[in-house]
Amino acid sequence: MTHLAGLLKRTHDLLDRAYVPYSRRPESAVVLLSDGLLVPGVRVENASFSLTIDAAACAVVNAVSAGRRDIVAAALSYDPPETVSAYLKTLPFARLVRENHSSIFLAEGAKFVEVGDWLPRPAIPVATPDEVRDQMRTLHLRAFAPESGFPVGCLALSEDGVGVPGVNVEHPDWTRTLCAERAALVSAWAYGKRSISDLYLSCRDGVGCTPCGACRQVILELAPDSSLWMDRGTATWERIAASSLLPGAFYLSLTGESGSMNRLA
Ligand code: THU
Repeated sequence: MTHLAGLLKRTHDLLDRAYVPYSRRPESAVVLLSDGLLVPGVRVENASFSLTIDAAACAVVNAVSAGRRDIVAAALSYDPPETVSAYLKTLPFARLVRENHSSIFLAEGAKFVEVGDWLPRPAIPVATPDEVRDQMRTLHLRAFAPESGFPVGCLALSEDGVGVPGVNVEHPDWTRTLCAERAALVSAWAYGKRSISDLYLSCRDGVGCTPCGACRQVILELAPDSSLWMDRGTATWERIAASSLLPGAFYLSLTGESGSMNRLA
């Protein structure tokens, strides 16, 4: 698939968007959709290493969060470990198989697709907070949640007024499932939006949304000064400061001192 060499090159455009304070090894990925549009993904690390999101999963989740599951190929800037190959190969909506030990993956039976432009950032129009919240009520419909039947939507609003959507994307290997909050945050990073002021969270019927422990750790690291708004159905949305989401959270200092603190030093 020589035309996909072009896809591989596009991964380089994204490397400086990766969040890699611990490894200092930026990685990126690009997903090709059936109409030739491209979706970006970057590696997003976390002080709790096992919560790190790899670039391929980031690109896949970004596509789903943008309402697109018609993935026909993926290209990675790195040599994929077996775990990443297995993740891509067993994605229920796009079984992506590695091409001859390369960093390119093709969906089974995919037709030839010309590599085109980036999919425009899937921004949700934002005017007033009330409008954002109204729009949030349908975002969960993009979620891929066949295992739980619990679709969730999250909007990460950056300080320049751009809203980046995320939904939960489940995987047959449950440990590779990503929640809506983390999906929205990594999507924001892949699109170069790093200053998140607000996170809006909504699920079907507006009840029961609250970030899990893993999401709290990631929110605290990537958006420590944000406000989190949780849909409460007919009641007023509940607001909580990200800084109070996880008392005594673990951080990993880049200068040597580590321990329990509320934010990255
Ligand atoms: N989930 C979220 O996406 N966000 C939350 O705040 C809680 C849980 C998802 C993850 C999984 O797909 C499903 O809900 C059940 O845990």
